[in-house]
Amino acid sequence: MIEFQNVSKWFGALQVLRDVNATVAKGTTTVLCGPSGSGKSTLIRTVNRLEPIQKGQITLAGRDIYAKDVDVNVLRSGIGFVFQQFNLFPHLSVVENVMLPLLRIRERSRAQARPVAMQMLERVGLADKANSLPADISGGQSQRVAIARSLILKPEVLVLDEPTSALDPEMVGEVLKLLRELSADGITMMCVTHEMGFAREVADRIWFLRNGTLTFDAEPAQFFSDEAHQDVRNFLSAVRKNH
Ligand SMILES: Nc1ncnc2c1ncn2[C@@H]1O[C@H](COP(=O)(O)OP(=O)(O)OP(=O)(O)O)[C@@H](O)[C@H]1O
Ligand SMILES: [Mg+2]
Repeated sequence: MIEFQNVSKWFGALQVLRDVNATVAKGTTTVLCGPSGSGKSTLIRTVNRLEPIQKGQITLAGRDIYAKDVDVNVLRSGIGFVFQQFNLFPHLSVVENVMLPLLRIRERSRAQARPVAMQMLERVGLADKANSLPADISGGQSQRVAIARSLILKPEVLVLDEPTSALDPEMVGEVLKLLRELSADGITMMCVTHEMGFAREVADRIWFLRNGTLTFDAEPAQFFSDEAHQDVRNFLSAVRKNH
């Protein structure tokens, strides 16, 4: 579904991605982890051209995302993005937040969009909060609304950047449960997270980035085994200590 070939990126003189070569297969879940500043956010943001690359190629469903005939708005509407901060519009109700991409990008009427958004809210277990304002729901619920919004255009890929790291601990579980269900439904997902239990259980592949280099790309069994790079093992023991 997504292929990175020799992807390199610089911010000015600072190289932040170094010849990344990797593939995300359709219907799989890929977890990205690695130390702070290793380039995880930058890498996932290259997929919808939020971050331009200076070298290499990225293909989505076989198409070069930088091909001349690619409309960046169409590209972006095919990739659902979820951020650490849920980025809901505070003055819009929950259902209006979820409807918004249908109104703005698909130019649907409110009457058309509302039932679709309600269906999506049911999917994430929040139909009863449809008319609440974001300020009146919990962080975990807000993130589930953000996920519903990111899925409303039926994207080919769902990309999440630390979706649970801004949440109070007791709310992490409900968001991970939803992601587990979406993964089981066969959505193609790339998720930056340090939730290693989730990674072990749900990921098909785990990517480890250090200093812009993809140093390890493995199945969970291998990632969590003693055969993993020393680098990965050091990282895992640091993450465990933090938890
Ligand atoms: N807009 C920018 N301008 C300049 N440098 C940037 C910019 N965004 C990120 N960087 C740098 O690029 C490198 C990779 O950053 P990135 O945010 O991708 O790391 P990360 O792995 O997501 O880190 P974290 O775990 O802290 O979120 C870092 O050195 C960062 O300082
Ligand atoms: Mg980041």
